Amino acid sequence: MKQHHLDFDVLRQWTIGVREAYQRTLEQYVNIPSVSMEPERKGDVLRQAQAAVATLTEFGANQVELVPTKGNPVVFARFETDPSAPTVTIYNHLDVQPANEPEWTSEPFRFRHVDDRYFGRGATDDKGPALAALFGARKGLDDGARINVQILWELEEEIGSPNFAEALTTLGDRLRPGTVVVSDTIWIARGRPAVPAGLRGLQTYTFTLEVGATDQHSGTTGGAARNPVAELAEVAAACVDAKTGRCKVPGFYHDVVKPTKQELRDFAGSGFSVAQFMKDHGFKSIRTKDKLEVMKRIWALPTFELHGLVGGYAGPGVKTVIPPRAELKVSTRLVPDQRPEAIARLVAKHVKRVNKDVKVTAQHALRPYRGVTSGPHADAVKRAMAFAFGRAPVFVREGGSIGAVVTMQERLKAPVMFLGLSLPEHGYHAPNENFDWEQASGGMIAFAAYLHELAAMEK
Ligand code: BES
Ligand code: MN
Ligand code: MN
Repeated sequence: MKQHHLDFDVLRQWTIGVREAYQRTLEQYVNIPSVSMEPERKGDVLRQAQAAVATLTEFGANQVELVPTKGNPVVFARFETDPSAPTVTIYNHLDVQPANEPEWTSEPFRFRHVDDRYFGRGATDDKGPALAALFGARKGLDDGARINVQILWELEEEIGSPNFAEALTTLGDRLRPGTVVVSDTIWIARGRPAVPAGLRGLQTYTFTLEVGATDQHSGTTGGAARNPVAELAEVAAACVDAKTGRCKVPGFYHDVVKPTKQELRDFAGSGFSVAQFMKDHGFKSIRTKDKLEVMKRIWALPTFELHGLVGGYAGPGVKTVIPPRAELKVSTRLVPDQRPEAIARLVAKHVKRVNKDVKVTAQHALRPYRGVTSGPHADAVKRAMAFAFGRAPVFVREGGSIGAVVTMQERLKAPVMFLGLSLPEHGYHAPNENFDWEQASGGMIAFAAYLHELAAMEK
């Protein structure tokens, strides 16, 4: 089965040698607050892009470009080995989520290294994995893998990749077709590698209601004045059953494809544990403790979620005002074969029926992705991960979304594979986000091995 002649111990030794350089680069990146969601961070996002260009140049890329878009640029690099060899594209993102959660125990944008752990926003999502992939790819090339490598580093993933397709269009023929590998997903747990057999799509919305101009005293107007917070709460309750999470929008589940028997078997054998899930995420209680049901809900079923209700008084105590307007922040996670546009229409129609004055604005529309779980590329990922981490990955779906994936699948006319390195305990989007050396060094070896697997495959 083994298609390359890499020596694990030699590679292990090599990772120790590059550890300092890896940490230094990750520190530089984590210290740049490249928050794509915050307009005032635009300059920092650009600084992150420029730092990436410098890294890739230093790593010996033959071609490095900042591809402009009407939003943030995309970083593109090409490591040319042999024009007649196949090309693999490695995708990561270097933009991050905001980090204003009060529970951070140290500065989120100041890299902190405690034993084998690296703390800071973006450490695991997705700067740490991006750099592990780069170090590993460079090593794979240095050890003679006959393959060309393209790097695509996005800076708008966390806002739904609105301009990624535009960047690929701008690149045109400079972007060679061929297989893609994405390192932006999570395992079941430490020691339990997983590869997504699918990603959920996403459609986000704001529901807004305006009934006045300014705050008014509830003693003088209450009873007669409309209350937009109360009305939006009613709309929310008409959209989702809070106890079960079931969406009440008519037709919402119509296009949902049930997981296959094989998928359910994979879920069952994945090593997922409800207790571990609760521990990793700090939950005191959850909607169901049935293991299969939890896995179905986070991987294979759509959601209707409320993220915030903004409006009225939010300071200490109770200030008795009637707010003039309120906004509900909503998302629907989508699974195959749900279509974002169709779901957005159903949601808007339902909300109008419940309250005709509420305005529904749809934002990000990301299609769900159905992954590749068999064939030579899937086997290559399995072997590379088993070689690097001592255990073959399980194929399960992932609940998150990556906007660029469907776009790359269409444009590069090739399967998109996943070689994720993050763990649930690393805390995606959470306070005290971290990454660790075990995942980083294993990831480097996995990427080096994957390049050799691909090169051997295409012979
Ligand atoms: N890396 C995640 C996607 C992910 C999450 C994969 C969980 C596997 C498991 C990515 O950076 C992300 O957070 N995506 C956002 C996109 C959204 C903001 C448009 C998401 O899923 O919410
Ligand atoms: Mn990510
Ligand atoms: Mn993310």
